[in-house]
Amino acid sequence: IRIGILFGGPSAEHEVSCASALGVARALAGGGYRTVAIGVTRSGGFRLLPDALLAELRDRPAGERAIDDQLVVSGPAVELRAGPRPGVVQVTAGNAPGAVHAELDVVFPVLHGPYGEDGVVQGLLESLNVPYVGCGILASAVGMNKVAMKRALRAEGIPVTPYVAFDAHTYRAVDDPEKLVTGLRRPLFVKPASMGSSIGISRVGEGDDLAAAVRKALRHDQLVMVEQGVAGRELECAVLGGWRPEASAVGEVRVSGGWFDYQQKYFGDADPMIVPAVLPDEVTARVRELSLRAFAAIGGWGLARVDFFYDEMAGELYVNELNTMPGFTAHSMYPKVWAAVGISYREVVDRLVELARV
Ligand code: DAL
Ligand code: MG
Repeated sequence: IRIGILFGGPSAEHEVSCASALGVARALAGGGYRTVAIGVTRSGGFRLLPDALLAELRDRPAGERAIDDQLVVSGPAVELRAGPRPGVVQVTAGNAPGAVHAELDVVFPVLHGPYGEDGVVQGLLESLNVPYVGCGILASAVGMNKVAMKRALRAEGIPVTPYVAFDAHTYRAVDDPEKLVTGLRRPLFVKPASMGSSIGISRVGEGDDLAAAVRKALRHDQLVMVEQGVAGRELECAVLGGWRPEASAVGEVRVSGGWFDYQQKYFGDADPMIVPAVLPDEVTARVRELSLRAFAAIGGWGLARVDFFYDEMAGELYVNELNTMPGFTAHSMYPKVWAAVGISYREVVDRLVELARV
């Protein structure tokens, strides 16, 4: 079967997606799949990454560094069109006869953040009637929106940290933003409802300017969430599967200064991941159980990485977020926590392709 890899995209996680996509491309090539890589530009156009170039990047040790925006923009423009039979999508370049570059049986949207991970691309793929890897429209949308996600988790009795949510209109109508967050203790974390990778997020401690933080978040989304900070360890667990998903080992992200921001997360030098996390057995078991319940709560399919705060003093675990297309480089947490239970990167990718559905 032939797999289309979609990567890049207009979100702020464009570069991370490029790096993730190359990891997936390597695994698929190693697994004997034929692949077509389609870069999505920052403005949403589809460009073909020529096959020879893809092969060259796959073989280059630091190919991730090269598969950047320039490359995505420079390829020939292509379109995805419904194929001659259901379940197949065509990659076409222009309208000329013979313009079909390839037919795809499965699409792997290795896209992070809004557009690629929030149901937009999933909707496009649904409309083309082609099987695709990962969560469907609803789970993707709920997973990407921090407010919708918390509501879904809460409704299923899954612990989340205390928060309030309000939109731009409500914010402009109050004279003092403090009135919107009564009942929450500082430090607060102010976040746009629908962004990934720590972008647009501020920590508001004693004496910090809440209004400035809210304005910053509002630059990314009309809906803002203010969350009470939880002092605790950051644990992550991967979920993989369809009707009967499984949970991986638990990993821990150790952060030296402050919280895990975008720079540290993807471009920092120190490897902040500890896999498996050193935890009492019952805490590990609870993380895995909550991960599966959280996945079910959003209606997940295929994969997700579930991120937690663990307040050791209080013995409390909170689900912080669900990533329905988590970072997927060879150094990312998602493949690492599977490797810890004996499931290789290539096997994870294999299973995901098998689970792909319309
Ligand atoms: N949103 C990034 C890719 C992650 O959570 O891994
Ligand atoms: Mg994310």
